[in-house]
Amino acid sequence: MSSSAISVSNLIKIYTRRRDTPLRAVDGISFEVPQGTIFGLLGPNGAGKSTTIKVLTTLLPPTSGRVSVLGHDVTTDPLSVRKQICVVLQENAIELFLSVQDNFRTFARFHGVTGAAAEKAMDRVLELFSLRDARKETGIDLSGGMKRRVQVAKVFMVEKPVVFLDEATTGMDTINKRATIEAVREEAARGRTIVLTTHMLEEAEELCSSVVIINHGKIVAQGTIDDVKAMGLRLFNISLTVAGDPERLLPRLRRFKPQRLEVSRTTVHLTVQDERTMHAILEIVRRSKLVRSFEITNASLEDVFVELIDKKDGAA
Ligand SMILES: Nc1ncnc2c1ncn2[C@@H]1O[C@H](COP(=O)(O)OP(=O)(O)OP(=O)(O)O)[C@@H](O)[C@H]1O
Ligand SMILES: [Mg+2]
Repeated sequence: MSSSAISVSNLIKIYTRRRDTPLRAVDGISFEVPQGTIFGLLGPNGAGKSTTIKVLTTLLPPTSGRVSVLGHDVTTDPLSVRKQICVVLQENAIELFLSVQDNFRTFARFHGVTGAAAEKAMDRVLELFSLRDARKETGIDLSGGMKRRVQVAKVFMVEKPVVFLDEATTGMDTINKRATIEAVREEAARGRTIVLTTHMLEEAEELCSSVVIINHGKIVAQGTIDDVKAMGLRLFNISLTVAGDPERLLPRLRRFKPQRLEVSRTTVHLTVQDERTMHAILEIVRRSKLVRSFEITNASLEDVFVELIDKKDGAA
């Protein structure tokens, strides 16, 4: 037995629609998720994230490949899988005519948690997700972002070891998102395995110990956040603050064929691929009387993501 909570091997999901050409929404992906960790499935719109989540949670059958959750195969033993998991889908809803607390109670009851145990769980989750003040509000009166927070929070009412969150923080403002991210992190620290999808990379960067980036159903990068950032792509962001007209510096910088070259007021922002280029640019900075100050930062996951997706699309 491995210590993987989830094991996915060469998963393929093809949607066959009448009169349409079959669509390979998930096209041969493999990954493992260690127990008690937060795993991120990343990719742009239409990449195949939700489809993957639906297969992993037994909502859709795979076309081929093997998927197991805590040792149970999703195809041959879906009931055992369902006993171990909770899922928040992208399109999930809450009960609009019930209060927040009754939404929680109903969900818990559905999973066999009632009475004092349900009240105790609710107390914990309301606190964790900072929802205590909203507990008596009716679903229909909540803002979109708050509805989403209630949807995400309620799955933590029951003690399932594996939790799937498909775009958990969609529609949330920063404060709402913060509360949710903190709560999810605490739940993982309690030993739960969490699989989340997102196209918001700061979120993945903050939460996930490992990620898979997919595009058109195929993996373009996988590993820890640091692995992905280092993936043969040493991207550097350089900002040069210029005394005078920054346009005068541009011809010299263009020669390095930067990934990105933008000017905002007196600052030139550029992204370059390798250390040699970065040093060559610093040499220009040193000699130029135009540059007043500069800053170099390592690429964010966002930069790497855009680069990886563009590269694969270009190759396709
Ligand atoms: N039931 C379905 N039947 C046919 N095609 C589908 C179905 N569901 C999804 N697709 C297609 O499969 C591809 C992957 O969709 P999926 O919803 O998995 O992407 P996603 O990565 O979750 O995107 P998003 O970021 O927009 O949520 C898309 O091209 C989508 O149009
Ligand atoms: Mg989706």
